[in-house]
Amino acid sequence: MALNVVIGAQWGDEGKGKIIDYLSERSDYVIRFHGGNNAGHTVINKFGKFALHLVPSGIFHPKTKVIIGNGVVIDLQILLEEIKMLEKCKISLKNKLFISPRCHLIMPYHKLLDSLHEKAKGKGKTGTTGRGIGPTYSDKVSYNGIRVADLMNSKSFSKKLKIQLSIKNKILKTLGAIQLNQKSIEKVFFDFREKIKLYVREPFSLIQNAIKNKKNILLEGAQGTLLDNDWGTYPFVTGSTVLTGGINAGAGIPINKLDNIIGIAKAYLTRVGEGPFPTELAEDLGKKLRTVGGEFGATTGRPRRCGWLDIELLKFACYINGFTKLAITKLDVLDNFPEIKICTHYTLRGKKVNYADGDANFLAKVKPVYKTFKGWGKPTKGITKYNNLPLEVKEYIKEIEKLTGVKIKYISTGAKRQEIIKL
Ligand code: GDP
Ligand code: IMO
Ligand code: MG
Repeated sequence: MALNVVIGAQWGDEGKGKIIDYLSERSDYVIRFHGGNNAGHTVINKFGKFALHLVPSGIFHPKTKVIIGNGVVIDLQILLEEIKMLEKCKISLKNKLFISPRCHLIMPYHKLLDSLHEKAKGKGKTGTTGRGIGPTYSDKVSYNGIRVADLMNSKSFSKKLKIQLSIKNKILKTLGAIQLNQKSIEKVFFDFREKIKLYVREPFSLIQNAIKNKKNILLEGAQGTLLDNDWGTYPFVTGSTVLTGGINAGAGIPINKLDNIIGIAKAYLTRVGEGPFPTELAEDLGKKLRTVGGEFGATTGRPRRCGWLDIELLKFACYINGFTKLAITKLDVLDNFPEIKICTHYTLRGKKVNYADGDANFLAKVKPVYKTFKGWGKPTKGITKYNNLPLEVKEYIKEIEKLTGVKIKYISTGAKRQEIIKL
């Protein structure tokens, strides 16, 4: 039995979906514990290519059950579309998908407020996915949220919606946006309820029994450590706790039950949205990484900013999450770079500084110090055995292990499930 965790070690899009699809073959349960449909987890396997936003990426294995834990915020329209799309591909979700009634609902006003906040911030915008994530989490913590359980009870839903609309419509009016109508929202959401209710079930005892009965459980992190609401590059972050610590609150699992905490990191680095990025490659090399790596958002299609691997940031992610292992993804993307760089540390005004010393403004000023590696210039795509890797790759991998102090357990050499080396 093992309770495994997958956490993004960078700014998201590290290839978590691919690794989860691979690891969950032996999982009895795969559980999402935070975030919402801002996530886009790409899975490529015998069923096809999928970008999953809410349904956990372990859904493709016949015996694996998947849970949307209480920490997740849900856009029901997106979830229903995803269920429909999976069923079209002959992946049944009946008795396989469980949705916590404690999940908060992303309401139409949350999406409007997300874009209005961004507009008001102008140049200082966060660059959100526009999915209403921040406003939904802020209503949750200010006790203004509407949960899945409320939707199951028409009276409760209507009462809460009425109060929220009385506030939100005033804000929307002031900001020159459209007014929302109670009856139209009720009609849409009561229709959603009929389609979703067979999946709604409090998963607490299910999960506790699974732990007691020594089942294999995999926790699916979304986003990445540097987008964490507290420890990321605030305000260029997301609304949830992305870190290992979010599992306790977001899935009801005691932290001392976790066996392996696997950090997923790309062999280089990307970011989508605004905010500091010390190793960003703006010109030719950045473009090359984007083209070769197919670095376009799985949720919004936005081009991702690209740069060299940043060990200072990766070390921080290892410390704060307590990673016991690392998975390095997209190694094959670096195959045709004559030179490859790793940022080993930062300096500011000639002095060595650490990521956690300051905020986003501080990070925008630090100077990355690089170590340069000779490129391997040979294809690694699809390699499944460590011994078949070029010597230069082995050196690159060993250096990451040495600098982070965490063992690399998986090396991903392609987007497909089987394109992976297990060490
Ligand atoms: P996630 O959000 O962490 O699940 O990552 P995304 O799915 O948003 O982005 C990762 C992208 O890289 C997707 O297009 C994957 O299909 C792709 N990918 C994952 N692992 C590899 C790999 O090892 N090599 C290559 N070339 N592509 C990969
Ligand atoms: P996965 O799970 C990459 C980024 C957005 C923006 C910031 C806030 O696929 O790795 P939000 O919509 O959450 O309020 O946006 O966070 N962001 C992601 N970037 N991958 C993600 O998810 C992301 N989810 C949010 O681009 O900068
Ligand atoms: Mg993604």
